[in-house]
Formats: sequence, C-alpha cells, structure tokens
Amino acid sequence: MPKDVIIALDFPDREKTLAFLDRFDEEKPFVKIGMELYYAEGPDIVREIKRRGHRIFLDLKLHDIPNTVMKAMRVLSSLDVDMTNLHAAGTIAMMEAAKEGLTRPDGTCPVLLAVTQLTSTSEERMRSELLINASMPDTVRRYALNAKAAGLHGVVCSPLEAALVKEACGADFVTVTPGIRFADGDTGDQVRVMTPARAREAGSDYIVVGRPITAAEDPVAAYRRCVKEFLG
Ligand code: C5P
Repeated sequence: MPKDVIIALDFPDREKTLAFLDRFDEEKPFVKIGMELYYAEGPDIVREIKRRGHRIFLDLKLHDIPNTVMKAMRVLSSLDVDMTNLHAAGTIAMMEAAKEGLTRPDGTCPVLLAVTQLTSTSEERMRSELLINASMPDTVRRYALNAKAAGLHGVVCSPLEAALVKEACGADFVTVTPGIRFADGDTGDQVRVMTPARAREAGSDYIVVGRPITAAEDPVAAYRRCVKEFLG
C-alpha cells in the first residue's frame, strides 16, 4: 500500500496557490484541491497543477441522485485527477454510479473514496439531528462496508477510525486521514488530532495536512518534516 503526505491547498485563488507551489523546487507533493479553490478557479486550476506534475486529490464530496453523480464523475475523470470522493450517505447505488462514471474507457479508475461521517459531526448531533441512533464507530464501520460493497477503494476518516476501517474492510482498503498536527504545533479548529507518526501506526495510508504546512514559516521544511515523521 503506497503511503504519502497530501498537502491541502486551502487557498482562495490561483495566484496564492501557485506562489505556494513555486516554493517546492525539489519535490512534487501530492496535493488536495477542495471546494474553495475549485469553485473559485474551475477545472483549469486542476489542469494547471496537473501539468506541473503534482498528483491531485479533488475533494468535492459529491452527494446527489445516482445519475447526476455518475455524469459529474465522468467530467472529473476527464480531468485526470488521481483521487476524488463522495458522501457514503448517498447510498450504495449512488456510489456504484459514481464508480461507473469515474472509470476511464480503458478500464482504469482514479482512487474513489467515501466520506463516512464528517469529523465535524459529533455522535450527539448525529443522534439528535440526523436521527442516526448507532454509535459513531458502528456508523463509520457500516458506511465503510457500504463503500467497499459499491467497489470504492477506501474512505476519508479520522485517524482515530483508521484501525476499525482496516479491521472491517481489509488492509488493502485505503484510509485517507485529515486532522494531523505536529506534537509541538497549534491544533487550530481541529479537535481530535494525531501526529504523523501516530497516524501511520493507527493505519493511515495517506495523511491530509493543511495549516501545519501551508501556514508554516518554512512550508518546504514543514512538508519534509511531515514526510519524515509519517514515512519513518
Ligand atoms: O489545516 P488542516 O490540516 O486542518 O486541513 C485539513 C484539511 O482536511 C482541510 O482541507 C479540511 O477541509 C479537510 N478535512 C478535514 N476533516 C474532514 C474532511 C476533510 O479536516 N473530515
């Protein structure tokens, strides 16, 4: 299973994003483009960063009726992203349709991940607002199993849940985990955090790291530290 650090490019526009990437002259980090940047700049920003030689996780978290998601995934497939995602709450039928849309004419497919429960959702709110009466671990486990049944490659989850996902879905089922902080760093608005080294021990295949790298005084040094701690 390949392990890697993915930098969350949480920037508002193309200029700030490219200025950040220009600082990396030796490495070509795997990067995540989220809703803010994608909605601001459109598919061109994906093409441009891809042309610069980066692998891209396009984090748009699709959730709609199966036919709409299938067609949207077909568009993302033509952008040649390496990884993308959707909400497991859209049902197995939606996830199967997404996989069909994302699969290229030659039969290959980018890594397709499901978001189980957002790490911002507490078990209490899941019960009181979403009327889901199962526990958070049981919900995450079931959503991960649904994603596996639909043919998806893995899930985005908290590093605290990576072990239970691996146990339920197998070692080859990919876990991508945000909520990473250095032992001596600021946690910001993330509540449940883990260091890169602990995330690896917990079963994360890819860690998504934003502010500990993007807001660092020396982002390249912070990225290198992160890779070193995560890959050992
Ligand atoms: O700056 P920070 O390291 O907290 O950034 C984490 C990134 O991972 C952000 O882009 C955030 O939107 C994303 N993310 C997350 N928690 C999730 C899913 C995605 O923090 N459950």
